[in-house]
Amino acid sequence: PPYIKNVSAMLRSAFAIAVEKAFPKTGVAKLVQVGPSSHPRFGDYQCNAAMAINKALQNSSLNPRSIADRIVANFPIDPFGLVDKFEVAGPGFINIYMGKEFVVEEIRSYMINGVKPRPVKPLRVMVDFSSPNVAKEMHVGHLRSTIIGEVISRLIEYQGHHLLRINHIGDWGTQFGMLIAYLKEKYTDGFPDRMEVHELQESYKESKKRFDSDEDFKKRAYQAVVKLQNKEKEHYDAWKWICNTSRLEFEKIYKRLGVTILERGESFYQDYMVKIVKFLESGNFLEEDEGRKVMFPKAKGLIPLTIVKSDGGFTYDTSDMAAIKQRVEDENLDWIVYVTDGGQATHFQVIFDCAERAGILDRTKVRVQHVCFGVVLGEDKKKFKTRSGDTVRLRELLDEGVKRARDKLLEKGRDKEMTEEELLQAQESLAYGCIKYSDLAHNRNHEYLFSFDKMLDDKGNTAVYLLYAYTRIKSIARKADVSEEQLRDYAKSSAFEISHEKELKLSKTLLKFPEVLDRILEDLYIHPLCELMYDICTSFTEFYDSCYCIEVDKPTGLKTVNMNRLVLCEATAVLLKQCFDLLGIRPVSKM
Ligand code: ARG
Repeated sequence: PPYIKNVSAMLRSAFAIAVEKAFPKTGVAKLVQVGPSSHPRFGDYQCNAAMAINKALQNSSLNPRSIADRIVANFPIDPFGLVDKFEVAGPGFINIYMGKEFVVEEIRSYMINGVKPRPVKPLRVMVDFSSPNVAKEMHVGHLRSTIIGEVISRLIEYQGHHLLRINHIGDWGTQFGMLIAYLKEKYTDGFPDRMEVHELQESYKESKKRFDSDEDFKKRAYQAVVKLQNKEKEHYDAWKWICNTSRLEFEKIYKRLGVTILERGESFYQDYMVKIVKFLESGNFLEEDEGRKVMFPKAKGLIPLTIVKSDGGFTYDTSDMAAIKQRVEDENLDWIVYVTDGGQATHFQVIFDCAERAGILDRTKVRVQHVCFGVVLGEDKKKFKTRSGDTVRLRELLDEGVKRARDKLLEKGRDKEMTEEELLQAQESLAYGCIKYSDLAHNRNHEYLFSFDKMLDDKGNTAVYLLYAYTRIKSIARKADVSEEQLRDYAKSSAFEISHEKELKLSKTLLKFPEVLDRILEDLYIHPLCELMYDICTSFTEFYDSCYCIEVDKPTGLKTVNMNRLVLCEATAVLLKQCFDLLGIRPVSKM
């Protein structure tokens, strides 16, 4: 079959069969785990099940080593030649050495068929990400959500699922009454044609001050909320103007980052919020609490949701309860992913719990996942802010990234063979690539230190290093005057082989991709993909340093190309390109 193979998973099922045959009906087959070895002297993969099985069986005539021997002896017939040999080592580790023919076949398939994931039953999935708030500056937390959410979306689409990317923007609530009342007072002759989001944010802050200090204004703000809710033209238009002003700014950011997302903010759920309150009320799920209506989750020790405020208004909680019902029942989703900072972990825990309690959500049927991430820190290890303590404007941040990327390219003299157009492309690819990659390469749960110096370093696991490596790899085949077509034909032929130790090492690293992919689709931690890309590039460098791909005969200038090695270069490029695509990073041909 033309799809990529997950070696760990194949070995795991083969070992499960072997264990079942060796120890029938004991239930120990479920103890089997297979993973990559920690060191080449322990083979390519390792299975450590013998120790666990020994414990579970408590059979004094056996020990882990004899158990391991027995498992190996029962290993099923291996039609793919996946395993070259086993080695039972130490207290009962089974070291597994991959068969070379299997590696050759896989690389051949990467070349001929591309890197296509194993088909699965397509699910209906929604990724709720980015989700900034109207009339407020989009901040670095939203940037993280945008970057991580986009990659998760790409991975899910790549796997072949149906995907909805939803921008759950904060565009509804009583605060808009306040803002509208304030703006109408300020712009008596109509709103300006254009306004920057930070000006809007200033107005928002001012309106809040007035609301808290001026009783008359407070009254007008409440009236404005009612008029807005009744969709009275003047107020409704004012609200649309506010949303549009913000939207223009958000869209600029998305365009630069290559993000596509459908806007479906809190305002979309207006009617659903009214309905969810009735629904929860009729199910007796709501309790009175100092004038508020709250809903407690099943789990003890968690704060309840506020479904209706004491002034009758709805909250963030109300909109998320309405949204989850709409998503499960109307959208018929199998899997919902929410991407926000870790500060909202409890919020989602309670939403999921309450949705289950109310019979809206059945977690055995619908997978709901909150993907959280840590706060962004500046170079001073404090919360990322401008020097004056304001929130950093994303547009300015991206501009600075582009400028720094340009400086980097010029400093390294990379612009020498570039036209101005190519330089522009390279600097953007580099800037956005670096900003995305340095976010993605870290465990998303951890705090994340935003540093242009670090992300633009050309050594270490950075986008710069990877992008340079990729362009270098692509240039090898170009220099050899061999077309991709010719390489594919050669890979198809029986002449193609992998012989040198470093060729084999590089190939085996490429074959790790399917298992990394499968794991990411489970836990949605993306950094292992970045680690793999880095491993691929370092293995490539080792390979390239010890294996000539093109040899030039000095006196005559004649070139001899090693087609086997050029195929490996191309296979590496194909896989790296796929990884870049998944990460939303655009490599350019010159860098
Ligand atoms: N607008 C929210 C914020 O800025 C994020 C919304 C996330 N999605 C959701 N369904 N609650 O924090």
